[in-house]
Amino acid sequence: MSIPQEKFSEIAQANEIVDVISGYIQVKKRGKSFLAICPFHPDKNPSLHISQEKQVYHCFSCKASGNVYSFVQNYEKITFMDAVQKLAQRAGIELRINAKDPDRSNEISKLFEINKGAAKYFYRNLQNLSGNEKEFIYNYLGKRKIHQKLIEKFGIGYSLKSWDGLLNYFLEENIFTASEVEKAGLLIKRENDESNYYDRFRGRLIFPIFSENDKVVGFGGRKLYEDDLGGKYINSPETKIYNKSKVLYGLNFAKEKIRYYDYVILVEGYMDIVSLHKNGIENVVASSGTALSPDQVQLISRYTKNVYVLFDSDFAGIKAAKRGIEIILEAGLDLSVVSLPEGEDPDSFINKFGKEEFEQQIQKRKSVINFISELYEKEGKLESVNDKTDFIKEIISYIGRIPDKIKRAFYIKEISGLYDLYESDLRQEIDKTINENKFKSYQKSSVKIPEQKTNLSKSNNGNFYKIDKEVIDYFIRGDKDCLIYLYENFHIEWLHSETIKKIVCEFLEQLNFDFEINISKAINILDDEEAIKCITEIANDPHEASFFESTSQYIFLKNSVHKKYKQSDAIKLIDKYKKNEFERERIEVKNNKAGLSLDEVSLKVSEITKKINDIMKN
Ligand code: UTP
Ligand code: MN
Repeated sequence: MSIPQEKFSEIAQANEIVDVISGYIQVKKRGKSFLAICPFHPDKNPSLHISQEKQVYHCFSCKASGNVYSFVQNYEKITFMDAVQKLAQRAGIELRINAKDPDRSNEISKLFEINKGAAKYFYRNLQNLSGNEKEFIYNYLGKRKIHQKLIEKFGIGYSLKSWDGLLNYFLEENIFTASEVEKAGLLIKRENDESNYYDRFRGRLIFPIFSENDKVVGFGGRKLYEDDLGGKYINSPETKIYNKSKVLYGLNFAKEKIRYYDYVILVEGYMDIVSLHKNGIENVVASSGTALSPDQVQLISRYTKNVYVLFDSDFAGIKAAKRGIEIILEAGLDLSVVSLPEGEDPDSFINKFGKEEFEQQIQKRKSVINFISELYEKEGKLESVNDKTDFIKEIISYIGRIPDKIKRAFYIKEISGLYDLYESDLRQEIDKTINENKFKSYQKSSVKIPEQKTNLSKSNNGNFYKIDKEVIDYFIRGDKDCLIYLYENFHIEWLHSETIKKIVCEFLEQLNFDFEINISKAINILDDEEAIKCITEIANDPHEASFFESTSQYIFLKNSVHKKYKQSDAIKLIDKYKKNEFERERIEVKNNKAGLSLDEVSLKVSEITKKINDIMKN
């Protein structure tokens, strides 16, 4: 497969990088540059910078960088050639690629090829059965109402009741080694003989798992035989092309319909998807066994903002639904819950009652509030004041996850009306949970401070704390333009002190909500002695003493501080932080832990020095 170099450039030119990235994630224009939350690491601040001029992206936090091809390749986890094809298609450029000439040049494309080969092999097994085995399997398929059309559509197959069916198939083909097939998750190494392998899937009904763009990335195998001691389903392990938390079963078949209906039905299992399709319900995806992940929700959000959760009504199903609800709300999507009668899952329900009844259940979908309240009611737990309090607190913990303030306000109104409670009380409770959640996610995202940085800050702690602290003053005393500049340009990673990080996080959050710094709210919310001490100290400038209420050391008059910092001050401050950052980097390079050659070190050092000098010139 050879494509001339000019073709690559032509395709890249036809795919403007900001446009392409905006198709995947939300991109914001800030001054000349474009910023986004980096999709390649857990991120809270927009660290991904996209340069329209250079047509490249760079993440200042995880250092991911590249051009339009590498973005698509890494985001979609596809091969370079697939990214090229995708972008060619997007731009309407014709690319003639000989399909009989597969790309086996790297490990990733090999894995795709192996999975494709295995899928064909399993499919053929099912088609070519004979004798008792055939009777047994087709009896099973009949009971489950899986007919040939569905088998074709979903590529359903069968793994022989043998230890080496697939192994021999690949050995005979002689294209891939057993070790390569093992890396695709299809073979397992024998414990006592590392050079010997056996089939992972034996005597099972096989569901190929497809990526969003129709590539087989793994398999799920349904148990068929009584004497099979494995679990009900066996799945491919994670491989370089199969990341369970980033794949949704059925998405490739559902994409168009999800866009068309502008909602998606989220179910649990392979069989649910197959049976719903059979009955003409196609805007469905399954989390297939794993707990719904934020990445999966992100995937959904590219097609629709409306999710109908339809999990089994057993205990495990409800637990999964609740966790799923949290994640969906956190992603800012709208959500309803569909309940089926006790003991039914979507597959059994639609096979028993048909499409119309199923659609009626969809019509009867509930809001989160009603779903939770019904659960409490069912357990007789809405009687006493204590029970009701628990219930409201649980509801509030969900509402607190919705990022959109206005949307939260609607929910607050609804609950206050339904249960005759003051909106202000509810709002206060919600603020509390928001704060708790924020710290949880903050702790999660801030764990990976490079070792060296920590050492540096240790040896130099007092000094760093002082530098860190300065920004707090600017947040408190900055005018609107100063705050805008800080909001857009300040990076939380520049800070070394955990306390200051917490405070800045809170301030950024406040700006995010209503672009106003409210010191007393920050103090009430932070609930951290050191942080409070730090804010009060800075806010309590003796020259401005008269601005503060004297009765309480914590409560300040809102906006009563003298706004002395302007945008030009913020620019200088940001430059100072940047300069510090470069200086830190320069020390790291000089320490040369990466083992560079002397030339490389001095080149890097002079590059950094140039950057520092550039900043000083401003
Ligand atoms: P269920 O136990 O609800 O199975 O698990 P199901 O989909 O209704 O399957 P049938 O109808 O009994 O054949 C839901 C999903 O959880 C995953 C599978 O993806 C399954 O479809 N799962 C379940 C596993 O991965 N392993 C298991 O052992 C069980
Ligand atoms: Mn089922």
